[in-house]
Amino acid sequence: MAPESKPLVALLFVPVLLLLVSAGSAKLLEYQTLVLAPLSNPPPLVSSTDGDDLSWNLESAEEVPVAEDGSASVQLTLHHRDSLHPAANSTPEALFRLRLARDAARVSYGDGSITTGEFSTETLTFRRGTRVGRVAFGCGHDNEGLFVAAAGLLGLGRGRLSFPSQAGRRFGRRFSYCLVDRTSADSLRRRTSSIVFGDSAVPRSAVVFTPMVVNPRLDTFYYVELTGISVGGARVPGVRAADFRLDPTTGKGGVIVDSGTSVTRLARPAYAALRDAFRAGAAGLRPAPVFSLFDTCYDLSGKSEVKVPTVVMHFKGVEAGAAAASNLSLPAENYMIPVDTDGVFCFAFAGTDGGISIIGNIQQQGFRVVFDGAASRVGFAPGRC
Ligand SMILES: *[C@@H]1O[C@H](CO)[C@@H](O)[C@H](O)[C@H]1NC(C)=O
Repeated sequence: MAPESKPLVALLFVPVLLLLVSAGSAKLLEYQTLVLAPLSNPPPLVSSTDGDDLSWNLESAEEVPVAEDGSASVQLTLHHRDSLHPAANSTPEALFRLRLARDAARVSYGDGSITTGEFSTETLTFRRGTRVGRVAFGCGHDNEGLFVAAAGLLGLGRGRLSFPSQAGRRFGRRFSYCLVDRTSADSLRRRTSSIVFGDSAVPRSAVVFTPMVVNPRLDTFYYVELTGISVGGARVPGVRAADFRLDPTTGKGGVIVDSGTSVTRLARPAYAALRDAFRAGAAGLRPAPVFSLFDTCYDLSGKSEVKVPTVVMHFKGVEAGAAAASNLSLPAENYMIPVDTDGVFCFAFAGTDGGISIIGNIQQQGFRVVFDGAASRVGFAPGRC
């Protein structure tokens, strides 16, 4: 009879409604605005003798004393010079392809390059008088591999011979750098990158910290524990912490933060899942053919801005407990980058089968990236350039 059948109808309806509600909310992805600035022509070289200069020209760097409180800190501004020069008639795309190809080869540095020469100790004196004694220092006469045409190389790794390790007593095993947008040298609002050694390297607030992880088999790299990635505000299920785990016995796997690699490389299954999630969230944009190592590109010509799904990298937190995750929200320019002058932009991540995942400098740009060896943590501070 009618009164008895009512509850049954209600029961049937309730789950259906719940399903609709949850399906509806899962579709509300988070987006952010990407202001579109296609590649422009690189500025002409200042003088032809700069031709084979180092990429990060420390010679012309300016030293600025940072701390007024007497603690030892030194700040250097960095001027980006590239040893790849545009040939008179080469296009920005062609130059950019060359840079990506170089980046792909660099990915293997640390094993391929060799140098032979003298090795001795020196006292380093910075312009305003900060001194660091007994720094082991090499003069290479035969440099092979990925030195490209650099005149010098400042080692910033975790190993004993790097500059921060050797200057540890003077600068407390702390340094940070900020790499400005790689296209900013081309723009009118020219800003410079900088590197700071010492306590002033660590901003006092708003730093997303994660523990510095040690690889017992390899002391050069700064490892961090990446636990996942969100796209559009939702954790991507296929990007698993297991894909990024460092095996301390074999020294394989893991995730490093590297200033010398441009495009972030993720273990391939994680990359594929991330890319698929991004493509699904960016389904409204017009696809474009692959470009170099990028397989997810869009033709955004004719637009001045678009909405792209947010991307957040989740790291292990420095405090105990699952809720203490350190979340790094990437600005849109750090993952959708122009590859030509016509408005093609690509999702700037790539996959790797090399075992080790690398957080590269495109994803780091605009953050102050802090390597705090004293407190065994790596940090990212938005906008502290
Ligand atoms: C980090 O993101 C996760 C979602 O994966 C969230 O649960 C957590 O509350 C976030 N933590 C902070 C500190 O924002």
